[in-house]
Amino acid sequence: MTTAARNQIQFGVFFQGVNSTTIWTEPESGSQTAFESFRRVAQTAERGLFAAFFLGEGLRLREHLGRLHDLDVVGRPDAQTQLAALAAVTERIGLVATQNTTYNDPVDLAHRLQSLDLLSGGRAAWNVVTTDNAWTGANFRRGGYLDHADRYVHAERVVETVRAVWDSWDDEALDGAGRAGHPDRTPDTAHVRTVERDLGHYAVRAEGRLPRSAQGHPVLFQAGDSDEGRDFAARQADVVFSAHPEFEDAVRFAADVRRRTVAAGRPGDDVQIFPGQQFVLAETDAEAEEKARWVAEHQITPATAIAYLENVWGTSLQAYDPDGPLPDIDPVVEVTGSTRGTAFQFQRSQELVAQWRARAEAEGLSIRQLVTEVGVRRGGIVGGYTSVADRLARYADAGAVHGFNVSPWLVPSGLDDIVDRLVPLLQDRGVYPTEYRGTTLREHLGLREPLTRRRVA
Ligand SMILES: Cc1cc2nc3c(=O)[nH]c(=O)nc-3n(C[C@H](O)[C@H](O)[C@H](O)COP(=O)(O)O)c2cc1C
Repeated sequence: MTTAARNQIQFGVFFQGVNSTTIWTEPESGSQTAFESFRRVAQTAERGLFAAFFLGEGLRLREHLGRLHDLDVVGRPDAQTQLAALAAVTERIGLVATQNTTYNDPVDLAHRLQSLDLLSGGRAAWNVVTTDNAWTGANFRRGGYLDHADRYVHAERVVETVRAVWDSWDDEALDGAGRAGHPDRTPDTAHVRTVERDLGHYAVRAEGRLPRSAQGHPVLFQAGDSDEGRDFAARQADVVFSAHPEFEDAVRFAADVRRRTVAAGRPGDDVQIFPGQQFVLAETDAEAEEKARWVAEHQITPATAIAYLENVWGTSLQAYDPDGPLPDIDPVVEVTGSTRGTAFQFQRSQELVAQWRARAEAEGLSIRQLVTEVGVRRGGIVGGYTSVADRLARYADAGAVHGFNVSPWLVPSGLDDIVDRLVPLLQDRGVYPTEYRGTTLREHLGLREPLTRRRVA
């Protein structure tokens, strides 16, 4: 096989804020709210030709067992504000804002995302999420929370409304001089349509307020792993931010997404997949293993280990020794809320607890050791630069992923070794871009035209 014939993978960076992934206690750790941290990470990523800079969203301080989570009570600046600031200090990298569909109103959301898209020259994306906890709802005027099934029904109506707003100006809207006599400044209102939608919980009537960006409209990402979430992605998304980074699982997940995408009437390769991934790299595999142990120990403090288990057990485990055996009590199953926004992993708490008990017993693991194994090291890619480059080439050849959304475990320097050492090896193997393909995110990813525009065509 010639290298030119190989599939490629790309990278995004997932800037996580305060949680059990990023280590904020080292001398070189920056601040999770200072613009300088975001700027350094985004510019390093751009130097490494990353497709996207990606921000999650938490609309409320996280809660844990009904209280503010005191391991996690540190804010994250608003994603769109941050991305707008980053647009000014970067030139090519895509800017992905996670935004929830239950609590955001679609017309307002459409305008904010379209603004980011225009101001960044066509680099914006919306990561569509439904959010998996009840407490976030208390922040909002309508209050409450939607059932899982209703969340996706509503999400689809919101996405379709947002797209309709984005598409409410025809291409010809700015072709002539409007009544004010400024060609390209005021729209010919004969080419501006009013969007009227009943979303069930409320109705909207609106027109878009901006012309299209260089990429048509923002790219759509989706994160949510249930059958409903995957089918929703197959109908609506350009890219899935997945929770399936391990090779065999990634191959299975890719086949599943392709099947659902074809069933939704789209070409099988229309939806790309970027799993979240952590990398621990060094000169040799042995050095990387040693480093990964250090990283895991610093990510999982004794208090974090107990809180992690409390999420699954649904009850206080403060009486248990983090360096002792797993709790001998049964989990309280009705509590599925999560402090980490990852409740999708915890819905089967009884099953998980049984698996973890068996593993801890077989391998003689304490609470902290088990959490380190299942909570952090699971899914991470650890190895020498060369062997990791070979492993990633295998993902590319198998078409298992289109890229990885990298979570740096140190900010702001956590991407340096990936960009300086790993990227060149991937380029040598022909599995990573050697330049940006264009100026827009849609071009970097090699996506087709936006779905609605194809339908019109
Ligand atoms: C990889 C991944 C990342 C996610 N990131 C966020 C996020 O940043 N903010 C958020 O509110 N929800 C996030 N979610 C949660 C989803 O919005 C969704 O509520 C949750 O996964 C439950 O839906 P599901 O049953 O379809 O998985 C994420 C989910 C996944 C799988």
